[in-house]
Amino acid sequence: MIVPLVDLKRQYRNIKDDVNGAIDQVLESQCFILGPKVEEFESSMADYTNVKGAIGVSSGTDAILLALMAVGVSAGDEVITSAFTFGATVGTIQRLGAVPVFVDIDPESYNINPELIEGRINERTKAIEPVHIYGQCADLDPIINLAGKYNLKVIEDSAQAAGAEYKGKKAGSVGDLGCFSFFPSKNLGAYGDGGMITTNSEEYIEKIKMLRVHGTKDRYFYSMVGINGRLDAIQAAVLNVKLKHLDLWCNMRQERALYYNKKFEDVPVKVPKIDKYNKHIFHQYVIRCKERDDLYDHLIERDVGCALYYPLPMHLQESLRCYGYKEGDLPETETAARETLALPMFPELTEEEQDYVVNTIKGFYSKK
Ligand SMILES: Cc1ncc(COP(=O)(O)O)c(C=O)c1O
Repeated sequence: MIVPLVDLKRQYRNIKDDVNGAIDQVLESQCFILGPKVEEFESSMADYTNVKGAIGVSSGTDAILLALMAVGVSAGDEVITSAFTFGATVGTIQRLGAVPVFVDIDPESYNINPELIEGRINERTKAIEPVHIYGQCADLDPIINLAGKYNLKVIEDSAQAAGAEYKGKKAGSVGDLGCFSFFPSKNLGAYGDGGMITTNSEEYIEKIKMLRVHGTKDRYFYSMVGINGRLDAIQAAVLNVKLKHLDLWCNMRQERALYYNKKFEDVPVKVPKIDKYNKHIFHQYVIRCKERDDLYDHLIERDVGCALYYPLPMHLQESLRCYGYKEGDLPETETAARETLALPMFPELTEEEQDYVVNTIKGFYSKK
C-alpha cells in the first residue's frame, strides 16, 4: 500500500463542481485583481475569525511581511519569535533589516515558551511573533500581557492554524494581527499561493490595504513604500468555496488524530499533546521518538509518506549566521528538530491507511 503524506486530489474530487463553477465566474468576469470575489472572501474570513477586518494578500509570507511593515518594524528593531518554524516567519523579519531574536520552545506543544520571553525583551524589541505550530495555538495570554507591559505588538503566525482556537477565540484574532497562509496543502488551501491578515484595528486595515498595492490609496499616488501583495481573484473564488468546509475538514483531521493516538497506545512513540485551552486542528500530526531518522527511512522504504518539520532550526541556518547563534543555544528546539516526524494527515485519510502507517511503525519496533 502507498500512503501519501497528503492527497489533495481526493478533496478536489468532492468539491470539483463548486470550485470549477467559481473559477468560471472569475473567467467570465475577467476581473482578476481584487474585486468582488476577494471582497467576499475577506468578509467571510473576518466573520469566521471574528475580527473587524481581513485583508487578502499574495501569500502567508507576504502576510507576515505586511504585518511587520504595518506595525512599523524597521532596520535595527528586534522581533521575538520561535526558531522551530518555517523560514518565512524569520526571513520576513530579516528582509526589513530587523533582527529575529529566538526564544526556546515548550517541548510538549513545540510552541514558543512564554516564560522565556521577558528575558529577551530590551529597548529595541518591537514585536513578538508567536507561531501556532502544526495547527495548535501558542499560549497567547502571557504573551499579550508582556506586550502590554512593554508596549510591543503581537503578530500571530497563524499560517498553519486556520480554524484553530485558543480559549474559544480563533487563531489570528487574539494578537494585534494574525497572518494566514493558503498554500495548497494548508487546512484551508488555495490552488496556488494566497494569504490573509486579520485584525481588529481600523488603522491597520487601512494601512495594509495600501501597503499591498504599492503604498497607494489612489492609483499612482504613493503615500508609503509598499509591495505588490494582493490576493488573486481566482484564488479567492476557490477559497470562498473551501471556507464553507473548513470546520468539517478540521474535525475530520481531529478524528484521525484521535485514531492514531489510540493505535499508538502500546507503541513507544510520543503522540501530540493538546494544551487544555486549545482546539488543535492538526495541520500536521507529529510524533516524537529518539530513533526518528531510522524510523523515517523505514517508513519511506515502505511507501508511507512522512516528513521532517523542521530538520534544522532557524537559529542554525546559514542565512542567520550573522547573528552568532550556535548549537546548544535553544536545547528544546534542537532536540525537537532531531526527534519529530510528521505522519500522513488529511481529512480524507482512511482507517485502512492509518492502520498501515501504525502497523509499519509497529514493525519497525518489533525488529529492534
Ligand atoms: C509557520 C509558517 N509561516 C509562514 C508560512 C508562509 O506561508 P506561504 O508559503 O503561504 O508564503 C508558512 C508556510 O508554510 C508556515 O508554515
